[in-house]
Amino acid sequence: MKSYSINELLQAPPLNQKVEVNGWVKTFRSNRFIALNDGSTIQNIQCVVDFEQFDEELLKKIATGAALKISGVLVESLGKGQSVEIQAEEISVHGISDPDSYPIQPKKHSMEFLREHAHLRIRTNTFAAVMRVRSALSFAIHAYFQKNGFYYFHAPIITGSDAEGAGEMFRVSTLDPKNPPLTDNGDVNYKEDFFGKETNLTVSGQLEAEAYAMGLGKVYTFGPTFRAENSNTSRHLAEFWMIEPEMAFYDLKDNMDLAEDFIKNIISYLLENCEEDLAFLEKRLLDEEKTKPMAERSEMKLREKLKFVVDNEFIRITYTEAIEILRNSKPNKKKKFKFLINEWGADLQSEHERYLVEKHFKCPVILFDYPAKIKAFYMRLNEDGKTVRAMDILFPGIGEIVGGSQREERLDVLNEKIAALGIDEKELWWYLDLRKFGTAIHSGFGLGFERMVQFATGMGNIRDVIPFPRTPQNAEF
Ligand code: 4AD
Ligand code: MG
Repeated sequence: MKSYSINELLQAPPLNQKVEVNGWVKTFRSNRFIALNDGSTIQNIQCVVDFEQFDEELLKKIATGAALKISGVLVESLGKGQSVEIQAEEISVHGISDPDSYPIQPKKHSMEFLREHAHLRIRTNTFAAVMRVRSALSFAIHAYFQKNGFYYFHAPIITGSDAEGAGEMFRVSTLDPKNPPLTDNGDVNYKEDFFGKETNLTVSGQLEAEAYAMGLGKVYTFGPTFRAENSNTSRHLAEFWMIEPEMAFYDLKDNMDLAEDFIKNIISYLLENCEEDLAFLEKRLLDEEKTKPMAERSEMKLREKLKFVVDNEFIRITYTEAIEILRNSKPNKKKKFKFLINEWGADLQSEHERYLVEKHFKCPVILFDYPAKIKAFYMRLNEDGKTVRAMDILFPGIGEIVGGSQREERLDVLNEKIAALGIDEKELWWYLDLRKFGTAIHSGFGLGFERMVQFATGMGNIRDVIPFPRTPQNAEF
């Protein structure tokens, strides 16, 4: 007898044949109907139990959460809600689940409660749908780059450099924190540490990816990155996944074109391949939005939003144009922004990004040519001497989803920048070498994977789109 996944059974039902399935009990109604789910699809298979045929002791073990193996003939179902069902002939219990203490009851749980039970929340429809979409999105990302001549590049996780220059790093050290070796000045002597220098978990694989783009042409990373920023928001994680393509001979416009095409392509993939899960998540979002005041509800349903992104050109404007729009905007004039926009050079906060995307343009926006002062050291300086070839992509409900730039390929300009920022050039010797030996214009960007999963699934909190979130004061599981 063949063992099937529930998805296989429903896709091409082998009617009137004996089949075997394994899964977890969602519900057991009237001592007769078991709804079984194995994670292969959002749908359950109904297994009909003739209780006279089974031992009472066995039936007592069938409760929500228990793991079962069931075999029987697959027949067309006369009942509502399913097309086929299994007439159970044999049931064996892999593992029982005490119905009184199993936290995942067949009812609505708050997201906060489920976060506290992150090891079990994958048994809910919502989390299973989100994680299947997350998996499909990873595949779509690899497929896009592999189809388009990019090589998958594995950036180191432990590094000595601070690519973004923000100093928000997790130290990697094997020194005894209670009794570290000291230098003559009384500083910790990292020469005696494992790597003989200060090291940290990477905040970005970009600098190393640049080295590889200068030999392989087009590369992309897809790996975990770490930021010790103390941001307790619905869009920040301390450990998140980032996709960073890096391309030799691409200027900023090529970079923006690629980012837009890439995003549209991976979202299309989801629309074509995750129909059932997206339909479920769309309904979940609608229900959730009903609890919000009218003004905060989204104008589009989830799949409409995704289609909208695929079908419409992203608006592209310079930082300078954005500042003008913001300066003259109602919330700025009425002092509704927490951070008022008064002058050119101000860093944009999420409230400004969301105003541009959600109120002003009602469309994804690419902002480019930012002031050098508010961006990282590696971005290419424009002729005006004060802006750099940076670009951020802003999304409705999310804010910044992509950050990228054309890189500074001129050794003299880069050296000046590094000196002005007080960065130790000895740390970056190899990065500077890239500008000495066959330098070329090149560009790249970073897509925050979880922010993209958030957008695709309509989940409000980034902690609910990664299996085990790491945030300040929280590394359980
Ligand atoms: O804008 P960021 O900091 O850019 C870089 O790291 C560049 N080195 C990328 C590159 O050019 N290769 O980060 C890129 C994206 C952001 O736009 C955001 O989507 C996401 O990474 N991100 C975070 N996502 C979750 N939690 C955090 N703490 C994040 N910080 C950034
Ligand atoms: Mg950024």
